[in-house]
Amino acid sequence: MKKGDLTSKLYDELKKRNLFEEDNEEDDNEYSDNDDEDNDDSESNGLYKLGSKAIKILTDRIKDEYTAHYYYRAAANWCQDMNYKKAAEFFKNEAKDELKHSQKLQEYMTDFNIIPEIPQAPTKHSFNNLIGIITGAYKMELGLMKAYNKDSLSLFKEDITTFDFLTEFREIQKGAVVEYNDLINASELIDKTDKFQVLYFEQTYF
Ligand SMILES: [Fe+2]
Repeated sequence: MKKGDLTSKLYDELKKRNLFEEDNEEDDNEYSDNDDEDNDDSESNGLYKLGSKAIKILTDRIKDEYTAHYYYRAAANWCQDMNYKKAAEFFKNEAKDELKHSQKLQEYMTDFNIIPEIPQAPTKHSFNNLIGIITGAYKMELGLMKAYNKDSLSLFKEDITTFDFLTEFREIQKGAVVEYNDLINASELIDKTDKFQVLYFEQTYF
């Protein structure tokens, strides 16, 4: 079968099964596809605004990114105090990255005419040992990976632009989870109660 024939057959089949129905409806409604009540304010200038679901999701994630920022700042301070020099440097950079993530989420909102309300994130994080910092970071990053995955799924049908935007964040979270997963595996190679071995671990893996 020729390529053109195959395409038109596929098109007919999709049409027969009404799979284009939604697209057609949206075509009639091109400039009002965002029917959230939140966006119906009288000052509206006809420009597209994010819907309330996307706003709620992005606001929650801004809080999580700030939480991660404060967590890593606290971790860097603790490591600096304990003289784990390489780990301190590592967590300083992690903290900087988390701020960038939070900023990126906020800029996306302003790009679509929403002024973000920055939630208060928890700032107090205390630690007893380096391995505890790593397991805590793993839990935090895994939770955030799951949150971005869930958010993306729930936005997929109604806001594909925000879904696409979140792709980068899902990738980032996957990388973070794998990174801490590897550090936890490496920590299994040492006796975590032996200070000298923990120092060797820090020197080797950070
Ligand atoms: Fe992040």
